[in-house]
Parts: sequence; structure tokens; C-alpha cells
Amino acid sequence: MMARLTTTLLAACGLLAGRALGALEIDLDDTESIKKGAALVAQDLLTFYHGDEPGWVPGILPGPPPDGDYYWWQGGAMWGALLDYRRAMGDTQFDDLITTALLFQVGPDNDYMPPNWTASMGNDDQAFWAYAALLAAETGYTNPADDQPQWLALAQAVFNEQTHLDRRVTDGGNCEWGLRWQVYSTNNGFDYINTVANACYFNMGARLARYTANDTYGELAEKTWDLIWRLGYISEDYDVYDGAHLPDCTGINKAQFSYNAAMLLQGCAYMYNVTNGNATWKARVDGLAAGIQRVFFSNKDIAYEPSCEPAPGSCNSDMMSYRGFMHRWMANSIQVAPYLYDVLMPTLKASAAAGVKQCTGGTNGRMCGFHWTSGVYDGLQSASLQMNVLGALTALVMPSVDPPLTNTTGGTSKGDPNAGQARTELPTLAPITTGDKAGASIITILIITGALSAFAWMSLD
Ligand SMILES: *[C@@H]1O[C@H](CO)[C@@H](O)[C@H](O)[C@H]1NC(C)=O
Ligand SMILES: *[C@@H]1O[C@H](CO)[C@@H](O)[C@H](O)[C@H]1NC(C)=O
Ligand SMILES: *[C@@H]1O[C@H](CO)[C@@H](O)[C@H](O)[C@H]1NC(C)=O
Ligand SMILES: *[C@@H]1O[C@H](CO)[C@@H](O)[C@H](O)[C@H]1NC(C)=O
Ligand SMILES: *[C@@H]1O[C@H](CO)[C@@H](O)[C@H](O)[C@H]1NC(C)=O
Repeated sequence: MMARLTTTLLAACGLLAGRALGALEIDLDDTESIKKGAALVAQDLLTFYHGDEPGWVPGILPGPPPDGDYYWWQGGAMWGALLDYRRAMGDTQFDDLITTALLFQVGPDNDYMPPNWTASMGNDDQAFWAYAALLAAETGYTNPADDQPQWLALAQAVFNEQTHLDRRVTDGGNCEWGLRWQVYSTNNGFDYINTVANACYFNMGARLARYTANDTYGELAEKTWDLIWRLGYISEDYDVYDGAHLPDCTGINKAQFSYNAAMLLQGCAYMYNVTNGNATWKARVDGLAAGIQRVFFSNKDIAYEPSCEPAPGSCNSDMMSYRGFMHRWMANSIQVAPYLYDVLMPTLKASAAAGVKQCTGGTNGRMCGFHWTSGVYDGLQSASLQMNVLGALTALVMPSVDPPLTNTTGGTSKGDPNAGQARTELPTLAPITTGDKAGASIITILIITGALSAFAWMSLD
């Protein structure tokens, strides 16, 4: 009796261990199977996060380099990925982590400009945190206590600050109204008027327009679309390029990255929705959807980053995270432009299948790599790579759950149309004492070399 029980127990443990050690296996035709698998991917993603442990900073992944692999913005990106995962799968187990993180990094002015990070902050970095706050509002995520900053107001603060002319080109030339990549003139990239900064702003504007029904957001979003279209950052065929420098925004860097095209698609889908199916916005949605499939899914409908993936080792840690966003934003576009379902779903499914297939790495046998088109695990491991597969799985379920809320369809997040600082000033550094010197000089170096943080692949351009 005793012996048999032991054997049974051992067999049960063996089974469990066998499962934990097995490759990620998911039946993509079965929502329950997707949910189970995605929960494992989310759990593995959070093994890279230590912000809930003593001695670590809440909200951020270990970094920035050389202290760890991740820049500040990637923390915001991860909470966004987890909020979308939560909406699609209904899994609330990470709520405490998410809320703590999103509130810890708001900074003294409730605008995602915490002094630790702002000296080297780009407009895109700040926007990725605003994306998470906006997503919290759109998905009906639990509101913070009344004495805490509120999700919608946080997103509005970032949008308002980026509307302000001190973040923009005001010389009356060809780039007039362009949003600069970097916030501070001391940073490399202050003269780079790039697609990502402007597309982040456009995307927030379109979503705020839908959530609040305030037309001003839509007008500002459209003004930004018109600018980057006129500058040729988007080609007639909907190739989406990286950006160009002052003084005249010519000599465009034609590198194409998946997240740029995808955040424009999502923004256009919201504009399409806000305008009740306006044909001009529909044409843009259609153009971007086709362009994304052509450029980033050219190999059997599997996500690929053509501007860096062909040359081994040339996709940096930022670039390796873009496709997870792309999958999610395509799926979210389907929610607000449902006719896209038949257009995009086959691609999202084929790509997710390839993503899952290569999750056979690490000591648990299910960590995911980067080169999805190769069909095999490539030995890489990172939070970005877990986020990618999590995003791909989330995207499969998202179109079948409730669409993003608005303030008239159940959204309860409190806004503040005037949130944010009127001017963006460099954070003041405390007077230097002997003990602080090393730290202060590090901050000075950070300010001087600025763009080391943020999307720091300027060497490409
Ligand atoms: C800023 O850095 C200090 C020192 O590392 C840390 O204690 C604090 O939690 C950080 N704050 C934020 C918002 O990152
Ligand atoms: C939604 O937001 C708009 C614009 O801020 C406001 O006028 C309206 O009262 C809000 N509606 C609800 C139900 O809160
Ligand atoms: C609409 O948004 C604009 C831009 O942020 C703001 O100035 C204005 O006060 C808002 N209007 C209302 C009614 O909330
Ligand atoms: C659709 O949107 C475009 C761009 O804003 C605008 O020029 C056009 O007048 C709109 N069409 C209709 C029918 O409202
Ligand atoms: C706008 O989005 C809602 C879902 O939020 C959807 O029911 C509606 O059909 C969309 N409008 C258009 C024009 O597709």
C-alpha cells in the first residue's frame, strides 16, 4: 500500500516535471490551450523582473546598460503587454505588480518623467509608459485610489507635454511642427525628427479622441499624420521609414521597423473608428495593413525584422522587442476596424505558430528565441523575446473580447485635460557633496551622451 502510493506520487511528480520541462505546446485553435500556454509565457517573462524584490526599483527591468539589459521604456512596454494579456485572457494574477509599477514611475508631476530617468528620456520612451496608462483606461483596469494619479490623466499629461512647442520644431521650415526624438537639447537625437516619436504621439491622440470624444485630440493626431506623410516618412506603398534630421528633414533614413508601421496602423484604425468609417482613414488603414504584411511577414506570414535580422547580431535588444507590439497592435486594430479580421488574422495565426514553435530553450525547455522564421530556438533569452510570444498569443484572442472602452461605454478612468507640465525643464541635480560626486558625474555623462539610453541605435543612422 505504502509502496504503491509512493510510486503513484513519483509518477505524478514525474508528469509535472516532464510538463514543466517540455517545450511550449499550444493548440492555437483552442482558446483554453492558448490561455494556459500564454500564462506560462507571462510567468517566464516575469522571471526577468525583480522590481518587487528588496533592493530593486519597482516598474523597471534590470538596466539601463551596462547595469542590465533593459532601458527604462521597456518597463512601460512590458506593463502594456501584460495589460493586453490580462484583457484577452482574463488573468488578473499580476494586478498588484502592474499597479505598483505604473504608479511608481509617474514622477513628481504625474507625467512619467521620474528624475532618475528623464535626463536621457526621448519622447518615445515617455510615450511607452503613457501607452500602458491609456491601455489601463481602455481595458477598464482597476483605478488607483482617489489620492493617486489616474490612468487617463497620466496619458493626457504625456500627450499635452508632447503637444507643447518646446518639444517641437518651430523654425517655420520644412519640419515645422515635427516632434523631436529627444526631449533635451543636450541629447544626441534632439535634431532627429523621427517616425517613432511622431507616431507615438499620433497613436495617443487617436486613442484619446476615441476614449474622450474630444475632437481636439483627433485634430492634433491628423496634423501629425499629415506632417509625416508630407515629409515622405511613409511612402506611397506604405513603406514606413525611420526618420530624418533637421534642418529640413530630407535624406530620410529608410530603415523600416515593425513597431513604427504597427503603431501607425493602430492609430489610423482608431481614427477610422472615431470618424465612423471615413474612407480616407480606411484607405490609410488598408495601405498600412498591406504594407505590414509585405514588409514584416514576407516569409510564410512569419514576423521578421528586415532592417536588422538578415545580418546576424545586428538587431539590438530594443529591435528584438518590436514584433510583440506589432502583433498586439494589429489585433487591437481589428477590434476597432472589425473588417480587418479576415485580412490580418491568418497572418497573426501563422506568425504566432512559428513563434511558439521555437520556444524550446532555457533550463525549463520553453524559453523563446528571436528568429521565428528559422523554426528553431536560437539560444537567446530575454524579456523582449518572452513579450513577443506573449503578444502574439494575446493577439489571437483579443479580437474576440470586448473592444476598448470609452468614457461613454463603461470607461471610468478620470481624466484631466490640462494635466502635465507647461514646460519641460531638465531635472535639477542636487548640490554635489563629496559622497555624491561619482553619482553626479555619472548623471553628467548621461546627459552629455544622452541618447545612450532610449532607442540608442543611432549608430545605424
Ligand atoms: C531612483 O533611483 C533611486 C536610487 O537608485 C531609487 O531608490 C528610486 O527608487 C528610483 N526611483 C525611480 C522612480 O525609479
Ligand atoms: C467624456 O469626456 C468628455 C470630454 O472630456 C466629457 O465632455 C463627457 O462628459 C465625458 N462623459 C462621461 C460619461 O464621463
Ligand atoms: C479637449 O482637449 C484639449 C487638448 O488637450 C484641451 O485643451 C481641452 O480642454 C479639452 N476639452 C474638453 C472639453 O475637455
Ligand atoms: C474623411 O476624412 C478626411 C481626412 O480628415 C477628410 O478630409 C474628409 O472630408 C472626410 N470625409 C468625410 C466624408 O467626412
Ligand atoms: C468601431 O469600434 C466598435 C467596437 O468598439 C465597432 O463595433 C464598430 O463597428 C467600429 N466602427 C467601424 C466603423 O468599424
